[in-house]
Amino acid sequence: MAENSFDVTVIGAGPGGYVAAIRASQLGLKTALVEKRETLGGTCLNIGCIPSKALLHSTEIYEFLREKGADHGIKTGSLKIDVGALMKKKDAVVENLVKGVATLVSKKGVTVFQGAARIKDANTVEVDGPDKATLETRNIVIATGSRVSELPSLKIDGKTVVTSDDAIAFDKTPGKLVVVGGGAIGLELGAVWSRLGSEVTVLEFLPRIAAGFDTDISRMLERILKKRGMNFVTGAKVTGAETRKGKVTVTAEHNGDQKTYEADKVLVAVGRRPCTEGLGLEDAGVELDDRKRVKTDNHFRTSVKNIYAIGDVIAGPMLAHKAEEEGVAVAEILAGKPGHVNYDVIPNVIYTDPEVASAGLGEDHAKEKEIKVNVGKFPLSANGRALAMDATEGLVKVIACAETDRLLGVQILGRNASEFISGAVAHMEYGGSAEDLARTVHAHPTISETLKEAALAVDKRAIHSL
Ligand code: NAI
Repeated sequence: MAENSFDVTVIGAGPGGYVAAIRASQLGLKTALVEKRETLGGTCLNIGCIPSKALLHSTEIYEFLREKGADHGIKTGSLKIDVGALMKKKDAVVENLVKGVATLVSKKGVTVFQGAARIKDANTVEVDGPDKATLETRNIVIATGSRVSELPSLKIDGKTVVTSDDAIAFDKTPGKLVVVGGGAIGLELGAVWSRLGSEVTVLEFLPRIAAGFDTDISRMLERILKKRGMNFVTGAKVTGAETRKGKVTVTAEHNGDQKTYEADKVLVAVGRRPCTEGLGLEDAGVELDDRKRVKTDNHFRTSVKNIYAIGDVIAGPMLAHKAEEEGVAVAEILAGKPGHVNYDVIPNVIYTDPEVASAGLGEDHAKEKEIKVNVGKFPLSANGRALAMDATEGLVKVIACAETDRLLGVQILGRNASEFISGAVAHMEYGGSAEDLARTVHAHPTISETLKEAALAVDKRAIHSL
């Protein structure tokens, strides 16, 4: 094969794209990966999941020591936060990881081109940037991800009206922060700055925050976060903002009235939209759907033969792990194997404290779909490890089919939820029942025992609750 001739050219090196490239190379396909950013890893590693988790971790320790340290016999004197050092630590985590991905990708035999890709036709990709080149390719995988959605009435200026890209890098704690949107980004970054001392108000359009989760779970989360000092206004539709002398006044419709909220900074976190511009999709004949996502069939094929798409740029939840699985699946399909993603059990997590995690069918959705379910619940307050860790707030719910006992879904509000949701996901992946989960030995003492107890509660036989 000529030097710039490839079996697969992947456009975009986020968790979808770089994973697709690694898997394609593992399967013996000559693979190119084109990325316009200087570093690999996409939004997730550079300005999304990873830096926000670094900030959440540091600030969680700070909040714990401040609020509960003395109860644990930890005397800290006057506890101080150095925002500059906090940011430096977060940047070091990101730098470490993006370097690791670059090493990984090159050691796996993938050729990386830095520059903006444009699809000339189904077999040609032009790269414009430091690695200017014309690539001949048998297949193309579009993995260009998503970017922050803006509200037409709220002009982002990157200083006072900002997106998550800016809110992971403020140089000092804003006095008052208004967050527009009570979804994953709004709650996580709202929590970070609230822990650091901002007066945070979340304005959410829907009647409740974290609306993707069951109502009882999201209401409990709201109560807990309120206790920690965050303010929430639900049913508030933000309609505009005016900046004057570095301060912002946000306007929202609430119960038929116009209300205003003063802030030093406004974080707009109302969702993300697919990145499809500048790729030459229209000229190449790649069709988009009504939400401007690349249209694909269930084998990730677009409307043009040999052009595929995965991740945030296509339909489905905008989650890094969904993109990664699609990356593996598309590479396997390209290598003639049966690549597949099980969309029924994709975990969804918000990394507040406590964390919220779900997978499969929620109780609310089961009701909407008129599916008869048995639900087992178990509170974290009845768990020994949670008590020892001062993490007793929260609840685990196991949702099982009333007829067959098949495990249909799990919802967790609790410390470490993001980690032990995987146990439930594995059971669901293999078609397990609530009984299977209830009979699985969980290490003691762990918070994950609450999952086993909730599974036992499906059959009203939890051991450690009344
Ligand atoms: P989101 O879709 O999760 O939440 C946006 C919220 O903004 C919704 O609740 C919506 O009702 C509200 N909203 C929309 N317009 C509004 C208005 N005019 N006034 C008030 N509220 C309004 O979007 P978010 O948090 O921006 O996240 C974007 C994407 O990134 C999501 O798909 C999310 O799942 C993903 N993500 C996932 C994370 C994780 O897995 N932990 C972390 C961060 C993002």
